Amino acid sequence: MKVAVLGAGPAGLYFAISMKRRNPAHEITVFERNKPDDTFGWGVVLSAETLDNLAANDAVSAAWIREYFAYWDDIAVIHKGVRTVSTGHGFCGIGRKRLLLLLQRRARDLGIELSFETEIDDPKPFMESHDLVIGADGLNSRARSAFAEVFRPDIDVRKCKFVWLGTRQKFDDAFTFIFEETEHGWVWAHAYQFESETATFIVECSEETWTKWGFGDMTREQSIATCERIFARHLGGHSLMSNAGHVRGSAWINFPRVLCESWSHKNLALLGDASASAHFSIGSGTKLALESAVALADYLHSEQGLAAAFDKYESARRTEVLRLQSAARNSLEWFEEVERYLDLDPVQFNYSLLTRSQRISHENLRLRDPEWLGGAEAWFQRRAGNTDNVRRAPMFAPFQLRDLRLENRVVVSPMAQYKAVDGCPTDWHFAHYAERAKGGAGLIHIEMTCVSPEGRITPGCTGFYAPEHEVAWKRLVDFVHAETEAKICAQIGHSGAKGSTQLGWQQIDAPLKSGNWPLMAASEVGWSPANQVPKAMDRADMAKILGQFVASAEMAARCGFDMLEIHAAHGYLLSSFITPITNHRTDEYGGSLENRLRYPLEIFQAVRAVWPAHKPISVRISANDWMGDEGVTPAEAVEIARLLQAAGVDICDVSAGQTSIRGRPVYGRMFQTPFSDRIRNETGMATMAVGNIYEPDHVNSILLAGRADLVCLARPHLADPYWTLHAAVQLGDRDVKWPDPYLNGRDQLYRLADRTATIGGVGGLKV
Ligand SMILES: Cc1cc2nc3c(=O)[nH]c(=O)nc-3n(C[C@H](O)[C@H](O)[C@H](O)COP(=O)(O)OP(=O)(O)OC[C@H]3O[C@@H](n4cnc5c(N)ncnc54)[C@H](O)[C@@H]3O)c2cc1C
Ligand SMILES: Cc1cc2nc3c(=O)[nH]c(=O)nc-3n(C[C@H](O)[C@H](O)[C@H](O)COP(=O)(O)O)c2cc1C
Repeated sequence: MKVAVLGAGPAGLYFAISMKRRNPAHEITVFERNKPDDTFGWGVVLSAETLDNLAANDAVSAAWIREYFAYWDDIAVIHKGVRTVSTGHGFCGIGRKRLLLLLQRRARDLGIELSFETEIDDPKPFMESHDLVIGADGLNSRARSAFAEVFRPDIDVRKCKFVWLGTRQKFDDAFTFIFEETEHGWVWAHAYQFESETATFIVECSEETWTKWGFGDMTREQSIATCERIFARHLGGHSLMSNAGHVRGSAWINFPRVLCESWSHKNLALLGDASASAHFSIGSGTKLALESAVALADYLHSEQGLAAAFDKYESARRTEVLRLQSAARNSLEWFEEVERYLDLDPVQFNYSLLTRSQRISHENLRLRDPEWLGGAEAWFQRRAGNTDNVRRAPMFAPFQLRDLRLENRVVVSPMAQYKAVDGCPTDWHFAHYAERAKGGAGLIHIEMTCVSPEGRITPGCTGFYAPEHEVAWKRLVDFVHAETEAKICAQIGHSGAKGSTQLGWQQIDAPLKSGNWPLMAASEVGWSPANQVPKAMDRADMAKILGQFVASAEMAARCGFDMLEIHAAHGYLLSSFITPITNHRTDEYGGSLENRLRYPLEIFQAVRAVWPAHKPISVRISANDWMGDEGVTPAEAVEIARLLQAAGVDICDVSAGQTSIRGRPVYGRMFQTPFSDRIRNETGMATMAVGNIYEPDHVNSILLAGRADLVCLARPHLADPYWTLHAAVQLGDRDVKWPDPYLNGRDQLYRLADRTATIGGVGGLKV
């Protein structure tokens, strides 16, 4: 096959090598605009695992690369003058120039033609003259732009500015992150040794700081001198160096995240950064490029014809690319928003940095560096006021809100049971909540309990509006207090436009088949075309419903609930005021955020006035309508939280969505936690995170990173009322309290867990 490869970066060269290894008869030319040793950048990070994959593909080049590998295990974070080091991270790196020179040599040895200083403006003539053309021409690929309508690239130019520099200062003991506060804002560096004499030193800052420093108007030399001044105390008198001599301007860029809908067209395929890029902060761009090159060469030999090979290549590599891009997005967003975290204590800041991509979990960190993690856990416990047994996981730290003290940070999230009769909780509710209260969680919520019959979502929803409701709830609360360490929170709400619908396991959110009742909401916006159009509330309606909230709160107080939560999320009545999707009012309750929040805040104030002063109140919000700027955005949720906090709300329960059938949520593990993180760290308000959090590892990493104060789990508690007790067994924590009658069961479980650990500890059954 006659092959033209456009671009002699890692992707192009390694693809050419991989092709030639599979069939020496291929005639391959690699075209490159630069000179052979004219490359930008300094070191690149790879892993030992990646190199093993490369060795299976071409042992010769892998052995050469291995010879030049620099290894390091530690990550150091310098923040507020404190240098924190953790170990066990296991990276290796090589100079980019060295890598390319080795690959060039290997390519030549294999008989590949390398044509340097050849600028390729248009791939089309090559597509005529060659059987196969590979667009491996990097981030700003011409091959991609020549067929933009086919590849449909999505290029997301990110917020920070960065420049890739080098230095002779040694960073050979650790991959080092340095955060420096300057007169124009924070500037930080990612530094790592890749050769005995040289380290990479990437300098990064926000666009605002970059502009204030005037980097855009500086020459390369001035820019470097400025960075040297900023990082002087870390450079030990060494200078910073640029090797982007062939690049115009000062070489600062914004990272473009590239993703293409399609990677091939006729006999042209995109490879490496041209097809998909991953932010440098997770060090996976070169790995992606090299592994994709191997995959493409493989399929070109295993499949019949180019089209079949390209299909296989895309379907096999796309998932991996998306996985890495998702981790890279978490990581780059962390750096973009780093100013939110810079006030954290250095321990928490360090933990937050290490877990930023969500690829490294709490237990991963324990495996890497148990001592460091133990220290961080002890810091967390002490800060939570626990000085007795500081070697406990963060989920087992106490938490205080007003006079309410929770034994731990696990919360049973509110979950409607649809089992009430005329609003009255039944034996089902007693058994269900009593079980969860025995299950070890620090706090259990009852479901959204409605302030009036018309405020119910379904005929099976519970209420706080009739004397028999009070009797039933009080029986439950008394049991929880007498028999368990759990505290219990009443969630009160009104269904608004989402009322008069079927039970959860019937057609959810659909109107009742018969017996519907009239609805009210902020505006005349029905939940869906199939649902009733609610009446837009007038002032009399507002006063009436406010009175119902107050009466319900008084009833919850008489029942002895420890905490109250006002449900202002998920499209129900109060949420319908907050989101502009459903609030079209033109009076002082519509329009600006202050106006949209006015009624929910009036209700909060009225409820606060009757709720015991020593007990806290939470408000649950939808922090993202998942409708872009048309609805509530995570940024606006921060402003919502600020207003709640100013009004005296003790904690914000940060949920999201369910406010419109047009919302398009992006699901994933812990997918709503970033909204809680943002609110907590931008406002200082206490938060609860919720949404697809299901492992003790998730809970611990959310807490120690400071992304929330409490963690709510809903569905996991449907499957396992004893989720917290079981989590303790899994984590080896023996200090949670089990109910006395269950102690024999507890002991057996502990024995079994210890036995499994011992078997594992001596190398399993292999010994
Ligand atoms: C600051 C920074 C730090 C990074 N750190 C790491 C890291 O630590 N680890 C890691 O794995 N990855 C890292 N990367 C990413 C990594 O450099 C890329 O993902 C990787 O180089 C992609 O390889 P590629 O061959 O697709 O593209 P490139 O390396 O960009 O190669 C493309 C080649 O095509 C040539 N070319 C472009 N246009 C033309 C044209 N019109 N005609 C002829 N030739 C052309 C270019 O000169 C270049 O040589 C980093 C990237 C940056 C920007
Ligand atoms: C069956 C069920 C009923 C729910 N009822 C309520 C409710 O009454 N009030 C509320 O605020 N959220 C309710 N939710 C939402 C949960 O509290 C939680 O926010 C959501 O399920 C995401 O958490 P998870 O991924 O841990 O399940 C309910 C969820 C489920 C599964």
